[in-house]
Amino acid sequence: MRMMGMIAAGALGVFAVACMQAEMPDASEGAQAYSANCAMCHGLSGKGEGELAGDLSVRPADLTRLTRENGGTFPVNQVLSYIDGYTRQGREDVEMPEFGLLLKGPSVPIATGDGVMTPTPRPLAALLAYLESIQI
Ligand code: HEC
Repeated sequence: MRMMGMIAAGALGVFAVACMQAEMPDASEGAQAYSANCAMCHGLSGKGEGELAGDLSVRPADLTRLTRENGGTFPVNQVLSYIDGYTRQGREDVEMPEFGLLLKGPSVPIATGDGVMTPTPRPLAALLAYLESIQI
């Protein structure tokens, strides 16, 4: 009887994880958003060697080192607020990318590091998953 209970609990756990994965966008979903919106500057590899990089007065950041530079934790909040605030930074030297599509879509909850689940537009959550996946 006890054995059956354990099997049932185990199956439930697997089921719950499967549901979460179905709901959460994964890195491959974000890869498209990345190549459409970010790769021209940050490069396909994320290291900052995009084709527009040479035209900018500031070198695009190496996006593969965000975790390393943040002491081993992927800086979800920092990256989110960077993308959100992108158009408000008053840069005259770069052409402003259109990130509207990233901010549209049904929200999914993502953990932003402070124990809070923050509803985030799915395309943006997918992009975050992709960025996290390219950390070295
Ligand atoms: C027009 C070129 C350009 C595009 C397009 C672009 N970036 Fe950037 N990005 C930069 C530059 C230049 C920097 C360097 C730091 C600065 O100027 O703020 C930067 C910095 C960043 C940073 C800060 C890194 C750090 O060290 O904190 C993040 C995160 C980032 N970009 C993510 C993205 C993402 C995600 C996209 C696509 C949605 C994107 N960028 C599209 C040019 C671009």
